[in-house]
Amino acid sequence: MPFYHKLGKIPHKRHTQFRKPDGSLYYEQLFGTIGFDGMSTNMYHEHRPTQVKDIKKQYSVAPKIAKANNIQSYRLHGFKIPQINDYLESRKTVLTNSDCSIILAAPKQSTKEYFYKNTDADELIFVHRGSGKLRTHLGNLDFKYGDYLLVPRGIIYKIDFDTEDNRLFIVESRRPIYTPKRYRNWFGQLLEHSPFCERDLRQPQELETHNETGDFLMKVKKQGDIFDMVYATHPFDVVGYDGYNYPYAFSIHDFEPITGRVHQPPPVHQTFETDAFVVCSFVPRLYDYHPEAIPAPYNHSNIDSDEVLYYVDGDFMSRNDIDAGHISLHPAGIPHGPHPGATERSIGKIKTDELAVMVDTFKPLQVTEDALKIADEDYFKSWLE
Ligand SMILES: [Fe+2]
Repeated sequence: MPFYHKLGKIPHKRHTQFRKPDGSLYYEQLFGTIGFDGMSTNMYHEHRPTQVKDIKKQYSVAPKIAKANNIQSYRLHGFKIPQINDYLESRKTVLTNSDCSIILAAPKQSTKEYFYKNTDADELIFVHRGSGKLRTHLGNLDFKYGDYLLVPRGIIYKIDFDTEDNRLFIVESRRPIYTPKRYRNWFGQLLEHSPFCERDLRQPQELETHNETGDFLMKVKKQGDIFDMVYATHPFDVVGYDGYNYPYAFSIHDFEPITGRVHQPPPVHQTFETDAFVVCSFVPRLYDYHPEAIPAPYNHSNIDSDEVLYYVDGDFMSRNDIDAGHISLHPAGIPHGPHPGATERSIGKIKTDELAVMVDTFKPLQVTEDALKIADEDYFKSWLE
């Protein structure tokens, strides 16, 4: 997160004595990325955060690749993935490469038995259905339909759902996820032409501090494996912190679209960036207003990036037979464009109510076995007249 946040109790000076009411010391921890060069947070624990009691088991959650090299366009029926009680078991990776994984999840239950920490990747969790509370060691965030939850790597979390009907679209990123650099000034402040500003980014305001000792199961993801680690102290024992590295939320409904007289390219929808992919939000907006404008996109060749669109809500003007929960994969190397009739249909339309999330990756994506279970194998022929 590119701006400073402070929550709970912290001492006036870093790396100095900070004492509990009984006179003993709180335990300081610097929590940073990219060595000591990236964003960091300085936090204070009730207990030493290093007290591992046991490492019970280790198992792989690496996706099973069905097509390592792919040039076929696909449509995936995202709502066909199974609803599963457990949050981690419900996460199904459908597309992946060495930079990121695209995951669909339909968890029915809150995480009760364990805490979770992903040390491989930042997680961007888009909430398509459901509401609840993301609970972390750096504070809690309420979420609902349309929220992006950005969970930097290493954040310990639990997720509480209000009901059993939850649908999540998750991007795991091995590179840090930031807001686009071109929307920030040299201090990191979001500029006037940015489609969102700091007020739209929700920081944790509620800090849970537990002092208990005992057995606390933490599932730690590292190198594609989950390690079941037992800690001797409650992982949410932080009394305060400050810094730049913490989870935050942003609602897609707070993204202010940029429009023009003629068709605007996808970068105007950009919401997040990494070195390896971008995330764009397509939101309800007025269409292009040149008198001869064609609102549907032109055919385009993303020669060196795979394009993944996750359809959330509304009517998808450029596509025939696309519904909420669908994913389209348009791979690098071949052109794609509007379906037959869509260009003509778009002329004269003044607005769209479409809502979609796009992920463009700079390396090709591999298609997993879980993807093929929900794939439409004939989609690549859908442009034939
Ligand atoms: Fe496209």
